Amino acid sequence: MKIGIVGLGYVGLPLAVAFAEAGHEVVGLDADPRKIEAINEGRSYIEDIPDSVLEPLGEKLRATPRHADLASCNAVVICVPTPLTSSREPDLTYLLEAATGLSQVLQPEQLVVLESTTYPGTTRERLVPILEESGMSAGRDFHLAFSPERIDPGRTDYTVRTTPKLVGGLTEACTERARELYELICDEVVVLSSPETAELAKLLENIFRSVNIALVNELAQLCDRLGIDVWEVVDAAATKPFGFMRFEPGPGMGGHCLPVDPFYLAFKAREHDFYPEFIELAGKVNQAQPIFCAERIQRALNEAGKPVSGSRILILGASYKNGIGDVRESPALKIMRRLQELGGDVRYHDPHVAELPKLGLSSVDLEEGLAEADVAAIVTAHPELDYGDVVARAPLVVDFRGVTRNIDAANLVRL
Ligand SMILES: NC(=O)c1ccc[n+]([C@@H]2O[C@H](COP(=O)([O-])OP(=O)(O)OC[C@H]3O[C@@H](n4cnc5c(N)ncnc54)[C@H](O)[C@@H]3O)[C@@H](O)[C@H]2O)c1
Repeated sequence: MKIGIVGLGYVGLPLAVAFAEAGHEVVGLDADPRKIEAINEGRSYIEDIPDSVLEPLGEKLRATPRHADLASCNAVVICVPTPLTSSREPDLTYLLEAATGLSQVLQPEQLVVLESTTYPGTTRERLVPILEESGMSAGRDFHLAFSPERIDPGRTDYTVRTTPKLVGGLTEACTERARELYELICDEVVVLSSPETAELAKLLENIFRSVNIALVNELAQLCDRLGIDVWEVVDAAATKPFGFMRFEPGPGMGGHCLPVDPFYLAFKAREHDFYPEFIELAGKVNQAQPIFCAERIQRALNEAGKPVSGSRILILGASYKNGIGDVRESPALKIMRRLQELGGDVRYHDPHVAELPKLGLSSVDLEEGLAEADVAAIVTAHPELDYGDVVARAPLVVDFRGVTRNIDAANLVRL
């Protein structure tokens, strides 16, 4: 098989690698010339894909800026970003551009699969008309399906191969072609009745997480008022072997998916005069969590007799989750911005994030940062840091990740 991947980011590159490792020829198309150059030189820019994985693939994986190179592919998978506009509405610009480019080179019998997360109806209502500008009919002359990506950057226990893959095609034949494609790289492919079911299933997965994270974050705020240790409460509830699923409280939600995806569904719901209050409430609680955390740091400093203004505040971890360097929608950035607004002398240490240009900051040396800090706040708990050592060195520590649960110290405050 020859497979085209449009968009070589966190989703597209691992997928391209999976097909190439399975022995197929892969053409990766990207709008960013630096990514094309990197891939063709065997250099990875995604932490989960080391250079040592790219090198042996050689000619099996080539990157290109030319849509014409997709014409010879049996299947083309679209993995471009689906962010929000500044007014928090779905921004399908990348997707529509990718589809327009593809429509100019689309071939009879080709299979097109959309993997980008989006609202139900996108494949049928938005992709079909653009792809049909090719003069061919979807479901008759070419095949079209939606198959949501379930990648979780930094996770090693589940891979592209071992995570079941959902597929929903425009017609039974489209679904069958998509099933055959993913069976090349996935142990289990789950066939659905339509692209809309597959689109909505992905949103349900992410909204389920968003709602449960909001619930436990709200509980953490209540525990703060009640003087109860939220971590002990969560640990206790999690001993129930059925009917409970553990979610951890924290500084708020980040990444490209969880803070964004619920707005995609809310947009579609509004078109049908439906207002999904539950989903929007979860978004509201999670958006407010970093502000609560900034206020908790302010209170901890206050208890030590220091104002935020002029205090040296060391944020540990700037990315949105541990073990990776992705800062998109990271709550750490909101906490830092809020503390800067209050006049704090904010610094950060993150082994995965060298610079935060919008905040005017670069990662500081850990030992120096701890030695100079009035307070250190653990916002993202990267595994390479020794948090016992952090508590021993800093005069005051606020832990939003529960990684100091086994430590009892007078200078330690936990969410
Ligand atoms: N990152 C995740 O963990 C994750 C998980 C599941 C689903 N998703 C979804 O997958 C989609 C892609 O996310 P991502 O994290 O890989 O994004 P990304 O920003 O890492 O990568 C997208 C790539 O697409 C390229 N691109 C943009 N427009 C293009 C165009 N018209 N033609 C060719 N290339 C183009 C960009 O240069 C970039 O390299 C999104 O819809 C996202 O919601 C992401």
